[in-house]
Amino acid sequence: MNLRISATALLSLSTVSNGLKILSEHCSTIKADFARRQLAEWNSSAAFTSADGTANIPVLTVSDDGSSFTVDIEGATQVPSDDPEVVHFVTHVYVEDQDGNVVDMQTFNPLSEGYPTVLMNMPAGVTELTPYTFNNLDGLWVGESVSTGGTDDQDRIITCGEGETLQFVGRAWPSVVADLEKQQKDTFGSDVPFTESDSAKHTPYITFDEEAGTAIVMVGSEEGEIHPMSGSTDGVTEPHWITEVWVVDDQGYTTTLNSLDPTGVDYASLEFYPDSNSKQLTAYIWCNIHGLYVGPTVDIPSKGDGEDTAEIPENSATGVVASLGGIFAAALPMFVM
Ligand SMILES: *[C@@H]1O[C@H](CO)[C@@H](O)[C@H](O)[C@H]1NC(C)=O
Repeated sequence: MNLRISATALLSLSTVSNGLKILSEHCSTIKADFARRQLAEWNSSAAFTSADGTANIPVLTVSDDGSSFTVDIEGATQVPSDDPEVVHFVTHVYVEDQDGNVVDMQTFNPLSEGYPTVLMNMPAGVTELTPYTFNNLDGLWVGESVSTGGTDDQDRIITCGEGETLQFVGRAWPSVVADLEKQQKDTFGSDVPFTESDSAKHTPYITFDEEAGTAIVMVGSEEGEIHPMSGSTDGVTEPHWITEVWVVDDQGYTTTLNSLDPTGVDYASLEFYPDSNSKQLTAYIWCNIHGLYVGPTVDIPSKGDGEDTAEIPENSATGVVASLGGIFAAALPMFVM
């Protein structure tokens, strides 16, 4: 009898209405960092609104059947560039629900034609959505809240950041790196990245798994200090994490750039297949608090015994082994072109 009662109680618990499950803190971590930067760089404790200007205001429109919505930033300036003095673009678009949870966040490719537009699926259990956008030169902006026509009596799962929409597409990488170089100059007064002699804890070291044919970047070292990955679950507590890791080869080609999710991760690392044309690799990282770091350049070991590098897959230029916080770098966010 007792057993039956507890079984029933368990069942009703798992189907409790308005249950909220958040699978990743990546979005709330990035949101907290935007708030930190908005204050540090734009001296504003809140997102800018239409009272501050109209160009960057995101406008959210729910589709007729309520299954999706778009966010448009019609006046946003898009100047993709690898020049830190020139690059000007919308880096992220995100949307909050009626309780301030980030229900979706996407990077934006500055090379897309026209003004920034993203299409997102309508999550369950959401009654109201508020759109936000972050622009590398103009800061954080918020648009009008919109009623979705939905109800809040359903279980809710927020997958934000668990998928691939927070990875920048390859064509956006030069602009992303240029913006980080600009921040290095503006915030730290340095034209060059910091190195091992500034902080080994922030330095990305590359090793190789010759069996698997992969290269592994690790920030800090197990013998010394490992850089922490402290996210923000509430979108307010200040996070401290390695936001991006990227690798440049001896031809100057950026072979991979990955945005790291701190959720459940003890240290920053990235495993990937080096491009078969690369002979040397150099890794870079951005720490949201301490800036840009470059690691030592390393030679890619030859496989020896006539095997050379032939076993490395042909299409490996942007291939990333999903592990330890690494997510596919070639991921394509859902765009409306
Ligand atoms: C920052 O903003 C406050 C008011 O919000 C103002 O009093 C102060 O002068 C501003 N500081 C700078 C450096 O602009």
